[in-house]
Amino acid sequence: MVDRLLEEGHQVIVLDNFSTGRQENLAHYSKAAALSIHRLDIADFEAIQPYFQGVDWVFHIAGLDMPQVMYQTLERFHQQQERSY
Ligand SMILES: NC(=O)c1ccc[n+]([C@@H]2O[C@H](COP(=O)([O-])OP(=O)(O)OC[C@H]3O[C@@H](n4cnc5c(N)ncnc54)[C@H](O)[C@@H]3O)[C@@H](O)[C@H]2O)c1
Repeated sequence: MVDRLLEEGHQVIVLDNFSTGRQENLAHYSKAAALSIHRLDIADFEAIQPYFQGVDWVFHIAGLDMPQVMYQTLERFHQQQERSY
C-alpha cells in the first residue's frame, strides 16, 4: 500500500503500533520526505486525531488477522472492534 501510494506521488502517513507489523519493512523509505511513520495505537482516538486533519483518504488496514482475534479475550476483541469504528 505504501509503495503504491508513494509511487503515485502521494504524501503518506502511516499509523501503526507495530504489534505484528515491522517498521523495518519501511526502512528503505527512511529518507522519503513524502512518508511519515508514527507508532500509535488506532484505539487511542485523541492521539491519532491530528493525523486526519487535511487528509483526503484513509485506508484502514490496521488490525489483527483472524487467528489472532480468535485467541483474544472477549473484552480485547470488543475494544479492537469498537475503537476501529
Ligand atoms: N491480508 C488479507 O488478505 C486480508 C483479507 C481480508 C481482511 N483482512 C483484514 O485486514 C486487516 C489487516 O490485514 P493484514 O494482512 O494487512 O495484516 P498485517 O498483520 O500484515 O497488518 C496489520 C497491521 O496493523 C497493525 N496493527 C494491529 N493492531 C493495531 C492497532 N491497534 N493500532 C495500530 N496498528 C495496529 C500491525 O502492527 C500491522 O502492521 C486484518 O484485520 C485482517 O483480518 C486481511
